[in-house]
Amino acid sequence: MSAIVLVGAQWGDEGKGKITDYLSARADCVVRYQGGSNAGHTVAVHNEKFMLHLIPSGILYPETLCIVGNGVVVDMEKVLAELQGLQQRGIDTSNLRISLRAPVVMPYHKKIDALEDRSSNIGTTKKGIGPTYADKINRIGFRFCDLVGDREYFATRLKTMVEYKNRIIQEIYHEEGFDYKELMDQLLSQADQLKKYLADTSYLVYSAIRDGKRVIFEGAQGTLLDIDHGTYPYVTSSHPTAGGACVGAGIGPTYINRVLGIAKAYTTRVGEGPFPTELFDETGQQLLKRGAEFGVTTGRQRRCGWLDTVILRYAERINGLTDIAITKLDVLDTFKTIKVCVAYRYKGTLIHEFPEDIKILKECEPEYIELPGWQEDITGITRYEDLPLKARAYLAKIEEITGVKQSIIAVGPKRSQTIVRDLMYM
Ligand code: IMP
Repeated sequence: MSAIVLVGAQWGDEGKGKITDYLSARADCVVRYQGGSNAGHTVAVHNEKFMLHLIPSGILYPETLCIVGNGVVVDMEKVLAELQGLQQRGIDTSNLRISLRAPVVMPYHKKIDALEDRSSNIGTTKKGIGPTYADKINRIGFRFCDLVGDREYFATRLKTMVEYKNRIIQEIYHEEGFDYKELMDQLLSQADQLKKYLADTSYLVYSAIRDGKRVIFEGAQGTLLDIDHGTYPYVTSSHPTAGGACVGAGIGPTYINRVLGIAKAYTTRVGEGPFPTELFDETGQQLLKRGAEFGVTTGRQRRCGWLDTVILRYAERINGLTDIAITKLDVLDTFKTIKVCVAYRYKGTLIHEFPEDIKILKECEPEYIELPGWQEDITGITRYEDLPLKARAYLAKIEEITGVKQSIIAVGPKRSQTIVRDLMYM
């Protein structure tokens, strides 16, 4: 059995798309289990760049079954556009399956997300993620099975819901609401186009695992954006952590045997919220430029800082990491010295564990160790042994602090720029 959860160990944007893509070449099934079109994965294949938001990266392999699980909130307009984009570039999309249980992102969710973010100031992607999950938890959302099931039942519920959402949009925000009939026609037409992809995906995942297939659960965002375990309220509304894979795909924890954490060799975050190792100086600018740190989904500039191992140890604990992939190591190629945060200082006291209260986190000062940089171009290196001694020392230090072995090191965006130390069960 080989079922691997790939999870972001920081604030998202760790380069999960590239690692998923690399492992997808060996996988039979790739599953998204949370998030929605707020995610953005860039995959570079044969000098071509693919940007995927909702569809799993495995779609680039014709034999791979790609699943959008029940834990994902699906924007039909976005998924249809993504499908069209892939098809136009000659990618076969017939292996995509979307859960009949997946909540649908409605146009009013997107509008309310943008309106609410003005006052909450979380800096959401405005893709309707929070409002869609809120309706799901509140048991007033729509799932795909509602859209392709009894039409009269759907129409009645939608009418009531549009009236309710319009009251919020018009009375609180004084903006234009939605026309129920127009919305209904639009949604039914989109659902009709997606009908052939809809399935009981939990059963498909279960069958794949039972049949000894290699399954990858592709997490979006990252551990610190988890609604429970992240830097609340500056988080997303789902569970990017490994436990989310079970609920969001509909499989039991005993079916998973590896949890691979993906961590950048430094740290970034988009949107608001505390970030202890954030750099506001020339070094931060260099990380931004060298790492091309701009969001795939929103184009926003990412905030950059040194690697924080308090976060990595926390990610190990919350996710039960079996191993780690370190990405973008090459971004550090030019630095004379490299800092690594090993603890926080809060009101004079050293803290080793990641605090749950962001008010404390905001006041934490990073405690750094400083390591020598290798100042060499490593983008062409394909074997661990060929990495400069100082680069290996940097990696070894992280391994020592986190206690998690590094199975993959990425030294550039291309598939070929991946150093594999241990493929484990893949
Ligand atoms: P939402 O997921 O759009 O509700 O946004 C909530 C927070 O999560 C914001 O700070 C976003 O910037 C952040 N976020 C959402 N998706 C991603 C992602 O894929 N990468 C990094 N940050 C993300």
